[in-house]
Parts: sequence; C-alpha cells; structure tokens
Amino acid sequence: MACSLFVTSIIVIFLVSYTYGQQCEQTLNAARFDCYPEKNPTQEKCLARNCCWRSPNQRFNLSHFSDVDVPFCYYPSDFPNYEVISNEPTDFGQRIRIFKSQMTYMPHDIVNLTVDLIYETEQRLRIRIYDTVFKRYEVPLKVPAIEKKADPTDYEIVVKSKPFSILVTRKSTGMILFDSSVSPFIFADQFIKISTRLSSPLLYGLGEHRQSLLINITKNWQRLTFYTRDFPPLENINLYGVHPFHINLERTPDNQTKVHGQFFLNSNAMDVDLQPLPALTYTTIGGIIDLYIFTGPTAQNVIEQYWDVIGKPMMPPFWSLGFHLCRWGYNNTGNLLAMIQRMHDAEFPYDVQWTDIDAMSSHLDFTYDNKNFNGLPDLVRGLQSDGKHYVNIIDPGISSSQPAGTYFPYDDGIKRGIFIKKLDSTDPILGQVWPGITAFPDFTNPDAVEWWTNIAATFHETIPFDGMWIDMNEPSSFIDGSINGCTTYYLDNPPFVPHVLGDSLNSKSLCPSAQHYLSSHYNLHSMYGYFEAQATNQALKTIRKQRPFVLSRSTFAGSGQFTAHWTGDNRATFNDMYFSISAILNFNMFGITHVGADICGFGLDTTEELCTRWMQLGAFYPFMRNHNDIGQRDQDPASFSWEAQQIMKQALLMRYSLIPFWYTLHHQATMESRTILQPLFFEYLNDVNTYNIDEQFLLGRAILVSPNLIAGSDKVHAYFPADIWYELSSGVKLLSIGQFIDLNSPISKLNVHVRGGFIIPMQIPGANLVLGRGNPFTLLVAQSYSGEASGNLFWDDGDALDSVETQTYNYFEFTLKTPNTLTINALVTNYKDSPMRLDLVKILGINKPITSVTVNGKAYSDYLYDFLDQILLIHGLNIDMLAQSSQIIQWTTSN
Ligand SMILES: *[C@@H]1O[C@H](CO)[C@@H](O)[C@H](O)[C@H]1NC(C)=O
Ligand SMILES: *[C@@H]1O[C@H](CO)[C@@H](O)[C@H](O)[C@H]1NC(C)=O
Ligand SMILES: *[C@@H]1O[C@H](CO)[C@@H](O)[C@H](O)[C@H]1NC(C)=O
Ligand SMILES: *[C@@H]1O[C@H](CO)[C@@H](O)[C@H](O)[C@H]1NC(C)=O
Ligand SMILES: *[C@@H]1O[C@H](CO)[C@@H](O)[C@H](O)[C@H]1NC(C)=O
Repeated sequence: MACSLFVTSIIVIFLVSYTYGQQCEQTLNAARFDCYPEKNPTQEKCLARNCCWRSPNQRFNLSHFSDVDVPFCYYPSDFPNYEVISNEPTDFGQRIRIFKSQMTYMPHDIVNLTVDLIYETEQRLRIRIYDTVFKRYEVPLKVPAIEKKADPTDYEIVVKSKPFSILVTRKSTGMILFDSSVSPFIFADQFIKISTRLSSPLLYGLGEHRQSLLINITKNWQRLTFYTRDFPPLENINLYGVHPFHINLERTPDNQTKVHGQFFLNSNAMDVDLQPLPALTYTTIGGIIDLYIFTGPTAQNVIEQYWDVIGKPMMPPFWSLGFHLCRWGYNNTGNLLAMIQRMHDAEFPYDVQWTDIDAMSSHLDFTYDNKNFNGLPDLVRGLQSDGKHYVNIIDPGISSSQPAGTYFPYDDGIKRGIFIKKLDSTDPILGQVWPGITAFPDFTNPDAVEWWTNIAATFHETIPFDGMWIDMNEPSSFIDGSINGCTTYYLDNPPFVPHVLGDSLNSKSLCPSAQHYLSSHYNLHSMYGYFEAQATNQALKTIRKQRPFVLSRSTFAGSGQFTAHWTGDNRATFNDMYFSISAILNFNMFGITHVGADICGFGLDTTEELCTRWMQLGAFYPFMRNHNDIGQRDQDPASFSWEAQQIMKQALLMRYSLIPFWYTLHHQATMESRTILQPLFFEYLNDVNTYNIDEQFLLGRAILVSPNLIAGSDKVHAYFPADIWYELSSGVKLLSIGQFIDLNSPISKLNVHVRGGFIIPMQIPGANLVLGRGNPFTLLVAQSYSGEASGNLFWDDGDALDSVETQTYNYFEFTLKTPNTLTINALVTNYKDSPMRLDLVKILGINKPITSVTVNGKAYSDYLYDFLDQILLIHGLNIDMLAQSSQIIQWTTSN
C-alpha cells in the first residue's frame, strides 16, 4: 500500500474506495477518530493517508469554546496496525512483542515494538510501549522501579492479538478503564498516537489549561495541547505547565460512582483529543508510551496512587502560608516603603513582601537597582526584623551582552559550559528576554545547579532573600527560536506539530534542536521549569539551610516536590477570578498543593468590588498573593476605601485564624498524599450534583467555601451536599441541605461553612505569622449527627528541613465522642520552643442546655451556652496542650 501514497489522487480515491469501502462504514459520528488533525483537511490529503472521507452523518453544532468537531477524515477499521508475535509472563507482569507489516503515512514507522505490562501495585498498572531495537528518549523523572509483580485487586487485562490492543477492566464492576481497540495505534519516530475508550464522558485534570473543572464530553469534541508556553491564560491554548493526568468517573448501573486515573508520562509536545464516544487520544511527537492507570476507587485514592509515582508535594515554610504582596512597578524604594507603611498603619496581617523585575538593575538577574531601589538590602533586613519575609524574582535568561568581566553569572556560566547549546555547537543558543540577548542555563546539567547555587549565594550576601520566584521558565523568549532562527534539522521540522499556540514549537521559545545535557530541547522543553525549580530548591537549601520557598510559573508532573505555583498573568476580571478556582483545584490534583492566582488580577485595572471579592476568595487559596502589573492602579488592601479595607481585613483575619488547620493540611499532603483544596465530588462521589461544581470548593475535608463571583450580586447560588453544615463565623447550623440554595452575600460577606464531624484547630492571629506563633489556640468543634467529631494538629518550628525525620514536632489528635467528651491527645510533643496554650473551645450543634462542664475532671465555670444557635463556648481555658498526653473536656446537658 505504501506506493499508493505516490500515485495521483484520482487513482488513490479509486484504490481507497476499492480497498477500504466496507471498513469506512461508520454509523456513529462519535466513533470517528481524526486521521487529519492538521489544518485544512481535504479529501485528497485524507485519502493519501488511506483514511476515510465522509461528511458526518449529522454534524454537531460547533461549541462556543472549541473548534474541533466530528472529523470528515477518519481511520477505517482495517487501517494498518500491529499484531502480537509473542507474549511471555515475566517477574513484573507480561512482555509482549508486536509487529507491523504495513507502513502508515508518517515517516519512520517503527515496526517492532515491545509492550511491557507492569503490575506495579495492587491498584497501579503501568503500560510501556517502546522500540524493541533502538533506545528512545524517556522522561528523566525518577519514578518507582518495580521488580516483582503485584497481585491486582481490582483490574484485569486482556491483550488482543490481531490487531494488537489492550483492554483493562475493573474486576468488581466490569467497567472499562482502558481500551485501545477503538482506533489504530501508530508509532513512528516523531508521531505516536494511541486512543482509549473512556468509562464516561466526565473527566477532570489535563492541565495546564484554562477550563471549567469538569470536562464534559457528552456532546463536545475537545482538543487540549500540552507544551509549556508563556501566555496570559486563555481557553483552548497550551499554557505554562504540562500535566497529562486525568481522573475519569465510572458510574455503575446501581448509581455508585468509582473513579480511576491515568497519567501519560511523556514530555514531548502533544495533543489530547477528546470525543463523545467517549474516548481520548494521545498524539505525541516523541518519547515512548509510558502510561499509568490508577484504579482508585475513590478520587483521593487515585491522587495517592498518582503522587506515589510523581512525588509528594513539599512542606512549605510556615511563613509562606501568610499574605504575600507584590507588584511589578513599585519603581523605587520610596513607593515600596510608602506601601509597606500604609499596610502597617491600616493593621493588615501580612507576611511576605516581593519585588518584581523593576527592582533589578537593567533587568539583570542577581542584581538590584541601587539607584531607584537604593537601600533595598536594608529595607529587606528591616522587614525580616519585624518577622516578615522577602522574595525576589529571577528569570532564567542570563544576559550575554554585558562587557566581558562585568557580569559574573554569564562569564562563569560560559566558563562552566552550563548554557543550553546550539545544535552541533558548544556555543549557547541565544534568545531575547528582559535584559536583552540572553543565554539559558541548562538545569539538567549538574554543573548548572552548582553554578546557580553559587551566584544565588553571592547575591544572598547582598540581599538576604527568603524565597525565590522563578518566572519566564517555559522558557519564554521574546523572539522565535533564537537570534539566528532555527535549523533545517529534523527536530526543528517535525512532520506533525501538535496544536501549539503560534503553530510552531519554537514560537516565543527556543529551537527544539537546541541541546541540553540530558537530551534535546525538543524532548525537554516542557520540563525546563521542572529542572529549574529542582535546582532552585536545592540552591535555597544550601544557602539558607531552612525549608525552601520557590514559586515557579512553569511546572511539569512532580514539580510540587520543589515549588509552589501561581496561575500566571491573569487579568482583573470576574471571569478570571472564577477560573482561578478550577485551576487551583487541578493543581492540587497535580501534586502542587501550594498554589494560588494573582489576587485582584495582574493585568488590567481592578475595581474595589472585584478586589474585595477576590481578597475574600484568595484568603482560601493555599498560596495567597496579591500581585499587580506595571501601570495599573494600586491594589494593595490599604489603597482602598475604609469600608473595603475592613472587609479585606476580615478575610485576612479569617485566614490567619485558620493557619493551624492549613499547616496541618500541608503536613497531610506531604505525608498522606491528600489534596489541600478539593472539589466537592472528592467527598461526595455518589452525589451527581457535585460533579460540575467549580464555584465552590472544600478546604481539607471540612470547610466549604462559597465565594461570590458575580459582579453586582449579593447572592451566591451554592450547593450543600446532604450533611451537617455550620456557618464558620456564626456557628449557626444550615437547614437546607442536599440542594442548591441562594445564600446572602453582600460585599461584606464571604460564605464559609464547617462540616459536621470535624474539629478545626485555630489560633488568635498576630500581625504576621512569626509574631503570632505563640498566640493562644482555639478549637472549633462541629458535631456530626451522632455528636462526634475529630481533627488533628501538626506543629513544628515552621522552617526546619528535617522536623519530621528528627521528630522535632508536635502532633495532636482531637476527638469528640459521645457522651460529650472532648479529648486532646498529644501524640508527639518534641517541639517545645513555642507555647501551645488552648484558650477557647467552641462546640457547634448542642441542642440541650448545659448543666456542667469539667476540664480534666475538675468543674469549670467559664462557659456560655447559646440555646438559640446551639453553641457551647468554653473560654479562658489556658490549657497547656504540651503538658499531658491526654486532656479531657466534658459537659453534661439537661434531659
Ligand atoms: C444547531 O444550532 C442551530 C441554531 O442554534 C439549531 O437550530 C440546530 O437545531 C442545531 N443543530 C443541531 C444538530 O443541534
Ligand atoms: C522485526 O523483528 C523481526 C523478528 O521478530 C525481524 O525479522 C525484523 O528484521 C525486525 N525488523 C526491524 C526493522 O528491526
Ligand atoms: C454533561 O453534558 C450533558 C450534555 O450537555 C448534560 O446533559 C449533563 O448534565 C452534563 N453532566 C454534568 C455532570 O454536568
Ligand atoms: C439510578 O438513578 C437514576 C436517575 O436518578 C434512577 O432513575 C434509577 O432508578 C437509579 N437506579 C438505581 C438502581 O438506583
Ligand atoms: C512605575 O513606572 C511606570 C512607567 O514605567 C508607570 O506606568 C507606573 O505608574 C509607575 N508606578 C508607580 C507606582 O508609580
């Protein structure tokens, strides 16, 4: 058949309709797999690929957010495919050899492939398909290596021989988890395409994209492209990070929902096409197929199973949970000081001050402008002596055009040979960023990590920064490819280019042919930010010998081990505020739990209403930073009206009072692989009403946040799953559950509810987290239907690298059991440098009058009972939580 590619189109049409006539019969539009995803498909070009060209039986309407639809050009069912030539059991599972006798339309088809089915754990299957003969590039991520096959508890695999396909089902329900038989499998050197049937059209994940939380392909066709890119978040384009991970719901006939997850470990540019069959197709232009299936069966189980592969998130330093303030365009020390002063005068809790690129001298990394930012080092030391922290920005582009001998980072980098190189050259590839022409450090080179640590350490002696903000690391360039363009080499001219913004892999970045220590830029582009974050994390550990804080714009699967993330250059619109929620929920799933969006919006002028609403919402972002663009109106909280300031302060105080809960959630994320923010469906998997909710979210398992995202509105349409909910601030129980209700939400009000069954550790806020560390703790006890609740608290010095390893922390378990017995169990009490006094306990949902209270067996009289709101408040306790391994508070009620 290969020769038919070269005969004239008329004959091709004849041949194709002759050879493939029957196999083009396709009753279902949804079962058509696109054979010509490139621009401008025509019948001629389609038939040249031996594919079928038919107009869709009934064309769907184009959806407003997508330009993909039922393809005219699709694969016939007898398209050339692989067949199994051998299948042997191995220690890890099965090894299958497959072979293809007919070539397809992409150059360099690989005919002999090996398929390893690795039964990694009871819930985790790995499928690797690679060239039997030649070693290919593989993602340099440290993933677990499995020697011995596990006994799968809930998955079964069937390998079909001719044509080759893999079917994975859930044992307990028979539900399909993976089925590659839906479309032909293609494996050419620069074009790999594999499809799978999905269990349902309801998906989550597949980032970084700006989209609603639920990807619902019941009717829609959708294409998501993966290739790191610097662009203000818009829908339907590839953005800063690459996370080819998704969760798929499985609804059984008896209305139970289970979930599984899938991770495509591949760092090359790729498209993921989704269609209503429902089905998913990966089209990547390099590497191998390395696919993980996680069988859950709950969403949290899937997350645990995924993070076991990519690595758990880092434990952030305590101070980084506070409020961060930044703008591009303070322009000088005077403006910066004035802003800090007004924040101070207005008494806002606030922890971290940042500066952007305007504080650099001529935008040169590891410098500051000692004219406009005269005194910056002293300003930073001043902040630090008040318990605040300082973070500065570093871009990867290192200026190559400074006079020799005047700019050490470049001179030393050249000497050490650590920059990304041009193809077949020892010279660095040059792009253009803020400081002008720049070279780009190659963080896959171990020497680059040493160089980076060294120059950062030198700068740290000038300005003792506490964290590093690594921006522009997609890597972003203002020109395409390099100052000399790109080459004619095959890597710069792939036969298929996924649907990246700019239509070229070198669009506003480097040439794919550029050479890294580990491989080509073609392979490593999307991991640039990953390696930079790893190097920066390492550098900060070496320099500060404390827990590092890194904020990276570009991320890859596993980046959460090293860095926090913000969602990039958003704009000051209500729509941007809405999309921040799904972005943050997704990044939690991707293992980057310390994440936030630029509060009040980066681009465009914010408004007082928007900024007030956004400060309220942002108080529930894990990473809370208000960040503004150059030339926009001020948006630090102290720049607004007195009324707006009071509302923003309330939001900040709410956040600061919940810090012990937040900090414990971070600990659980690092230790137990739990997301910090999560969608409602994670906790209410069988409740279909929760699947599409992305305007509300849960903090941990216990706190439900329902922000107001609509301009001019004083109502929030919110869903409350059938459970017990108490309003956080008033403690009053909500009566309408299991339905959507309209909550009052005037500008002064953020709706936050606590779920029955949970105990939330809280603390009286200080001016910042360092100053507030020794303040009294409080417990908010939200009773379940049966009058029970539980919670815990992790506490350490907040900065140590090894508090868990050395056990220098405290850990408490709080339990409320019937009848009316609250126990504070101190399980670990090795950190004694800061007092832990419990001052107040607030118990919600007590519907009978209190007759007595005892603390550790002694009668206690400082309590109030509010019968109307059913709240018991025990105050003035002054219990040293570290004093005893178990302390008990009890109460009796009248009958
Ligand atoms: C497509 O949209 C038009 C106008 O919105 C509508 O009249 C038509 O019925 C739609 N067609 C299908 C197949 O849904
Ligand atoms: C593929 O494998 C078969 C044997 O399994 C061998 O005969 C053939 O030469 C191989 N082809 C290539 C291109 O390596
Ligand atoms: C998914 O989309 C379909 C069709 O548009 C709709 O009927 C269904 O309710 C949606 N599912 C969810 C969970 O939103
Ligand atoms: C499942 O839910 C559907 C729709 O809510 C309902 O019609 C059906 O009876 C339910 N099936 C079972 C087994 O509960
Ligand atoms: C900083 O300078 C820019 C122009 O470079 C200007 O637009 C902006 O208003 C200045 N910022 C402040 C806070 O004065």
